[in-house]
Amino acid sequence: MRILAVSGSLRADSHNTQLLRAAVQGAPEGIELELWEGLGDLPIYDQDLDDPDDVPASVRRLREEWAAADAILFSTPEYNGSIPGGLKNAIDWASRPVREAALTNKTVAVVGASTGQFGAMWAQADLRKVLGTAGARVVGDELPVTRAHEKFDRSGRLLDAELYERLRLAVETLAAEAIPASVGNAA
Ligand SMILES: Cc1cc2nc3c(=O)[nH]c(=O)nc-3n(C[C@H](O)[C@H](O)[C@H](O)COP(=O)(O)O)c2cc1C
Repeated sequence: MRILAVSGSLRADSHNTQLLRAAVQGAPEGIELELWEGLGDLPIYDQDLDDPDDVPASVRRLREEWAAADAILFSTPEYNGSIPGGLKNAIDWASRPVREAALTNKTVAVVGASTGQFGAMWAQADLRKVLGTAGARVVGDELPVTRAHEKFDRSGRLLDAELYERLRLAVETLAAEAIPASVGNAA
């Protein structure tokens, strides 16, 4: 079982990326969870660039690697009440071509961290809606990480044991719900 972990933040010290690193560390046996980086390489979605035989290399990589994963775990910050533009842009690219898109029937889960009191809840709700509209199967519940700047030590280790356990369970649920890419959702 191979699951990709996609952070909606490009920031080097991103709490969302730290959260995903903690998920990678705590992944149950048999689940290979791997951080996927590449959001920042993508051009802004432009239908004129979206020629299936000749897409930009960064888009080809996104489509091939997301399609080959058995599931995807997203962690999103909240920017002005919603998801970051770069994350939405990647999802737009991964939602085409319709029916054979990397996200079609892909099993996905959403967690999120913000420095505020609500743990990117609006962003997580919006991300679930966007992923569902793009054709993905969104499973599990939101996992809001509030006051994220207090939840990690200087080396990025997650300090909250309960949160660590909830994260581990979220990965377990995602893996249990996943349809292996070789069976159901390869583009
Ligand atoms: C442009 C921008 C808009 C933001 N808007 C919100 C917001 O609407 N709600 C919120 O809780 N936090 C907001 N924040 C704070 C982010 O949640 C916080 O910076 C978070 O740590 C970013 O995620 P990261 O650490 O993974 O980069 C905003 C931050 C930025 C840079």
